[in-house]
Amino acid sequence: MLLRSWAEPVDAPWPDVARVADHVGVEHLVVTRHALVRQVLADPVTYRPDNALDAVTPMPVAALRILATHRFRLPPTLANNGGPRHPAIRSVVADALHPARVAAQRPWLTALVSDRVARLDAALAAGRSVDLYADLAADLPLLVLARLVELPDAPVDAVTRFARAALELFWAPLDADRQQVLAAEVGRFHRVLREFAATGGGLAGDLRAAGHPPDVVVGALFFLLVAGQETTSQFLTLLLHRLAGEPAVRAGLRAGTVAVADVVEEGLRLEPPIVTWRRVAAVDTTLGATAVRAGTSVVLWLARAGRDPATVEAPYAFRPGQRGSRRHLAFGAGAHRCVGDQLARMEAAVVVERVVPLLDGVRVVRAPWCPDNLTFRMPDAFVVRRAGAPRATAGPGLTEPSAAPAAKRSSGRAALFGAEQRSGSSS
Ligand code: HEM
Repeated sequence: MLLRSWAEPVDAPWPDVARVADHVGVEHLVVTRHALVRQVLADPVTYRPDNALDAVTPMPVAALRILATHRFRLPPTLANNGGPRHPAIRSVVADALHPARVAAQRPWLTALVSDRVARLDAALAAGRSVDLYADLAADLPLLVLARLVELPDAPVDAVTRFARAALELFWAPLDADRQQVLAAEVGRFHRVLREFAATGGGLAGDLRAAGHPPDVVVGALFFLLVAGQETTSQFLTLLLHRLAGEPAVRAGLRAGTVAVADVVEEGLRLEPPIVTWRRVAAVDTTLGATAVRAGTSVVLWLARAGRDPATVEAPYAFRPGQRGSRRHLAFGAGAHRCVGDQLARMEAAVVVERVVPLLDGVRVVRAPWCPDNLTFRMPDAFVVRRAGAPRATAGPGLTEPSAAPAAKRSSGRAALFGAEQRSGSSS
């Protein structure tokens, strides 16, 4: 009964620390309280990050063979690297994502988002549905990332397909056929990354110049593309969906009584795109009152920690600026704390500023649907229509509502993973 709770009401009671078996029978220690989650994140000696990218559904030989054909390897690089090389790799990546470089992208991103908003506004006024995931948020983070970090010359949709495939392959409950499909997708793009890592400039060149071997350069690019693109596009979608149901917050933004930055932080607290993150116990220890054996997989329930009544005044209410709002752990903490946090915040701030007015007077045609996944929410769409506007047929580039594709739903209800989630009550 572990992360079935993704689909349970958010205020359902949970112990501070619980042992729960996953869909393949592996036991995990789930940590729900803010103070305990922070304690684990802040202690990389007792709780190592080595298992951060381990596949939660063990890969069968057929999928491993496909990955091997593409010479796929993911050595400890960033999030899963508890070794002595981590600080040096992290510092090269952090330079590329320096807050000053991020801030310099803001005018460009504002212009791009404004342009999209004008198009979406016209479509809504004409009575059409728009998908704020596909038509707005899906590719924005990648477009910004490509201005900060030199990336392989690949079509945007190939990169987003690869990134989503990686999130599914490593963090979802899967059957063997699906694992092979995903292994092929991930392996193919890994090959592109390997070629780019050998010759590319920018971050890849800096990592090579600092003496890091090719596998490390590939690993850094791999993780950046997944972390820098999917996390943020998911967050933008979830935040917009949440704000569609928060008219008082929108009114406060309009009136200037609610700060954009506070809305972003409250969004990260209540709608984090990364629901859990893992560590592995390196030694026998205790966490709170619970004995933890060396080798235990520790699942840190970041979303739940953000709603801990011990840290937040009104844990379940979306109240920008409330006491404890900024103390969320959506970006982790300690030595591996997210280095893209300023970038994600900047992107979310631009979207809140420019897109939220569009939400006034819209009706949600389809809320985001999120598949079973231990860690990532992965919303698939967020379709709205302006209430009272004349109905019209869809024009080019705009989305008509549809039911969530049946093929995307996983068949069995796994123990570790929640059944399908409707955003807003699932994290
Ligand atoms: C809302 C968006 C995002 C969220 C919620 C998020 C969350 C996280 C979390 C939970 C971790 C693990 C932290 C830990 O182990 O303590 C992490 C690590 C990381 N994130 Fe993010 N992230 C986001 C956006 C980004 C972006 C935009 C980038 C880069 C372009 C990025 C790059 C990274 C990197 C490189 C790491 C590994 C850091 C290390 O191990 O030293 N993330 N992120």
